[in-house]
Amino acid sequence: MADYIHVSVAWPYANGHLHAGHIAGSFLPADIFARYHRLKGNHVLMVSGSDSHGTPIMVEADARGIPYRALFEEFHESHLKVLQKMGMSFDLYTHTDTENHHRIAKDIFLILLERGYLYKEKQLRLFSLTENRFLEDRYVEGTCPKCGFDGARGDQCDNCGSLLNAIELINPRGKMDGSTPVPRETEHYFFDLAQFRDRLRAYLESHAHHWRPTVLNESLSKVDDQRGRPITRDVSWGIPLPLDDPEWANKRMYVWFEAVMGYLTASIEWANVHQQAEAWKNWWYNPQARIYNFLGKDNILFHTIIWPAELMGISGIYHDDDTPISLPYDVPANQYLNLEERKISKSRRWLISMPDLLEFYDVDSVRYYLTAVMPETRDTDWKWDDFISRNNNELLAKWGNLVNRVLKFAIKHFEGKVPQPTELRDIDREILATVEAGFTSVGERIEAVKLRDALSEAMRLATEVNVYLDNAPWFGKAIKEDRPAAATTIYTALRCIDSLKVIFAPFLPFTSERIHHYLGYEKPLFGDLQIRELQESQSSHRALMYDSSGAMGQWQPSQLPVGQSLREPDIIIKKLDPALAEAEREKLED
Ligand code: MF3
Ligand code: ZN
Repeated sequence: MADYIHVSVAWPYANGHLHAGHIAGSFLPADIFARYHRLKGNHVLMVSGSDSHGTPIMVEADARGIPYRALFEEFHESHLKVLQKMGMSFDLYTHTDTENHHRIAKDIFLILLERGYLYKEKQLRLFSLTENRFLEDRYVEGTCPKCGFDGARGDQCDNCGSLLNAIELINPRGKMDGSTPVPRETEHYFFDLAQFRDRLRAYLESHAHHWRPTVLNESLSKVDDQRGRPITRDVSWGIPLPLDDPEWANKRMYVWFEAVMGYLTASIEWANVHQQAEAWKNWWYNPQARIYNFLGKDNILFHTIIWPAELMGISGIYHDDDTPISLPYDVPANQYLNLEERKISKSRRWLISMPDLLEFYDVDSVRYYLTAVMPETRDTDWKWDDFISRNNNELLAKWGNLVNRVLKFAIKHFEGKVPQPTELRDIDREILATVEAGFTSVGERIEAVKLRDALSEAMRLATEVNVYLDNAPWFGKAIKEDRPAAATTIYTALRCIDSLKVIFAPFLPFTSERIHHYLGYEKPLFGDLQIRELQESQSSHRALMYDSSGAMGQWQPSQLPVGQSLREPDIIIKKLDPALAEAEREKLED
C-alpha cells in the first residue's frame, strides 16, 4: 500500500540570496527524499516557502533603506528561480505573507488563547533611546549568557544554539547604531510551553529509535527547561494579532511562532489550489502518514519542541473526528556546510551564492557534489578543488562516460536500436542482478535519510558496470569476430544503464531525464516544475509548483525493450577545467 509522506523544508528568510549551505543543509536532502518516494509510488506532499517576516528581513531592509515588503519580494523572486533551477520539486513553494497563511496563523493564535495555552505578561525588554523603539531579536547583539560567545543575537546564540531573550544578553548593543539599549516594560503574549513538557518528552522518547542522535539529544536536554515564551513583538512588520484591542494594534506575531505553521498552512493552500479542499488531511489527520522536516542544526528546537507543542495545542483544528493532528515523524537536521574550511559568512561574503553558481555550473554537477559532501553527521566543506575533481573523476568518469560510450556504440553498430541478445551468460546475469539489488540497497539508505551513503552506493553500482564492460567482449575485435557476443554485452549494459538512470534519478534528475530520453522513451521520467501566479481574494503571489503525476511508481528494474530506437546522446556531464578552482577561490572575499 502506498504511504503518505510529507516532506518539508525550513522556510528560508527572504533577506538575501540562497547559498550552497541552504541547499546542502535542507533543500537538497528533502528533494532527494521526495523524488525517491514518488518514484516508489508513495503519496508525497512537499512544501515550503519564503519566510517573509521577522527582524532578519527588517534589519536588511533598514540597512538598504528600502521598505520591508520590497526586500522580501525581491528575494522571494530570487528563491523561486534558484529552487526551480535546482529542480527542487515542491508541490508548493509559497511564502508567509499570503492571505491563507495570515488567516490560519490568526486562527491558531485564537485557538491556543481559548484553550488556555497563551497568557499575557508585562516584561522588561530592550529599548533603544536613539531609535526610539524596542530592539527585538536581531536588532540587538551581545555576549551569550550561556557560552560567552560575543556575537549572540537577541533571540538565539549561533555558537551554542541556545534560544535567548534579548534582556539576558551581556553588554547588549543595537545592531543599527551600536548604542546601548535600556530595559523598558512592555506587554506580550506568551506561549505556555510548561504545559506541554510531559507530552513533549513522551513524544521525543517515542521517536528515539530513528532520530539522529544530535537532534534527539539536543531536544531531550532542553525539554525540561521549557516555560512560557513570548510570541509577540513590538515591531511593525509581520502578522497582526486577531484582537480588537488598540493596545495590540502595533504589535505583531513573533516570526518563529507563525513561520513553523507554514508546514500546515502551505499544505492547506496546496489543497485549495488543486480544488480538493480536504486533501491536506491525508497527511495531517492520518496516523499512518509520516512527516519529515528538513533543516539545519540551528533550527532544531523550533521543530522538535515549539512546533510540536503548537500542534498539540491546536489538535482538531478544521477537523471533526478525534484523530490527532500529525507531529513530525523525523527531523533529520543537518550540520553545517563550511567553505574552504571556514564558516560561511554573509557579512564577510564568504559564501557561494546560488544564483552565481548556477550561472556557470550544471545543476546536476552541483547536486552531485552537495550530496557527496552533505553534512549529515558532522560539518563538512565545499572545496573548489574537490568539486572539480569529483565532477571529473567520479560523476563524469564513472557515470557520464559509461552512458556515453555504450549509447554511441549501440547507435553506431546496431542501427541505433537496443540489440537482440543471445542467451545471457553468467557475467551478464550477475551484473544485472548486482544493479537490480541497488533498488533495495540504495532505497533503504534513502529511507533512512543516509543520502551520502545512498549516493556512494549508486556510484559503486556504476563502477561495477564499468568493470563488467572491461571484462566482457564488446568492442574492438568482438564486433567483427563475434557480433552476437558484442550484442549481448551492449544489451546488458543498456539495461544496467536504464536501471541506474532510475537509481540516480533522485540525486541527478536532469541527467536521468536526458538519459531516459536517449534510451528512446517517449514519456518523460519527471513532471514539470513551474513558477505560477496564485490568486487569492485580495491579492496574488508567485509560487513554485511541481506536477508530480509523471514520476509515480518507476522505482523498478529496467524492462528496456529489444529493438527500441535510441537517440544520439549529447554531452552527459561536462568536464571542468581544474584551473577554475583557483579562479573561484580568488572571487571569495574575506
Ligand atoms: N527562516 C528561518 C531560518 O532561516 C527558518 C524558519 S523554518 C520555519 O532560520 F519552519 F519556521 F519556517
Ligand atoms: Zn551561546
